Amino acid sequence: MAAETRGCRPWGSLLLGLLGLVSAAAAAWDLTSLRCNFGTFCECDFQPDFPGLECDLAQHLAGQHLARALVVKALKAFVQDPAPTKPLVLSLHGWTGTGKSYVSSLLAHYLFRGGLRSPHVHHFSPVIHFPHPSHMERYKKDLKSWVQGNLTVCGRSLFLFDEMDKLTPGLMEVLQPFLGPSWVVYGTNYRKAIFIFISNTGGEQINQVALEAWRSRRAREEISLQELEPVISRAVLDNPHHGFWRSGIMEERLLDALVPFLPLQRHHVRHCVLNELAQLGVEPRDEVTQAVLDSTTFFPEDEQLFSSNGCKTVASRIAFFL
Ligand SMILES: *[C@@H]1O[C@H](CO)[C@@H](O)[C@H](O)[C@H]1NC(C)=O
Repeated sequence: MAAETRGCRPWGSLLLGLLGLVSAAAAAWDLTSLRCNFGTFCECDFQPDFPGLECDLAQHLAGQHLARALVVKALKAFVQDPAPTKPLVLSLHGWTGTGKSYVSSLLAHYLFRGGLRSPHVHHFSPVIHFPHPSHMERYKKDLKSWVQGNLTVCGRSLFLFDEMDKLTPGLMEVLQPFLGPSWVVYGTNYRKAIFIFISNTGGEQINQVALEAWRSRRAREEISLQELEPVISRAVLDNPHHGFWRSGIMEERLLDALVPFLPLQRHHVRHCVLNELAQLGVEPRDEVTQAVLDSTTFFPEDEQLFSSNGCKTVASRIAFFL
């Protein structure tokens, strides 16, 4: 994960991170328990760093005023609540390359000491974990026992589900009981978990709202959650290929937030190029930025407004033009 080198981490956690790397696992655990005696959080390797998260989002997430504010607000409220009444359930929606996976990896990075490699961060991808529709019954059993098992080990677990629109319907219904307020086994452990679902569903509808706003000369920042929520919600409910299809998750209102990602404009792609160059330790060069922008396709055809794949291929194209 890229965030390590980006200068948003306070010295304390950077040093701890280094110590964790060089010392043996046992020593690292001692360090954790030591911190736990004094710290507010003493749950597995859950160690939220909100200033770091906010700084990184502000510097590196291009063009997503809604997602940025919403994610931070929801997480802070949830994490600061010592006895949440239900797990935090976020569903991220938007066009390809708009930052959904980036945001989820930042969350793992700034919430858990081990980031995406933490034993308490669980990442599921349909093509890797659930490829064969004919094995659905086994997948259901596996998923249920994994979630239950992992939550028994650590209540503060993060479960990430990628490409929800490529998931065979039916699987998600086993998750439904874990997402609500009623699931209480072994105390209230289950209610401290965080679930994040990612999909492109609703992306076209979000793009349409952004395009109409642009055509009527409204600032992008004026686009509100209130106008996007219903269109995303409808798109999910109408999509039989989305994992929530008939799972009861939408119907029972188990999602705490639908997080919209807006389509990216030319200046956002430029922002991504500059981020990427900084990441590589390369001085910004106009001809590289220009070459990447020139090789980006934009839509709709007339206005040439939004990047067809957001910032998704920026990194690989930079490598080509350097
Ligand atoms: C936790 O989840 C992983 C999949 O991410 C699974 O392989 C493992 O068996 C689970 N652990 C427990 C204790 O259920």
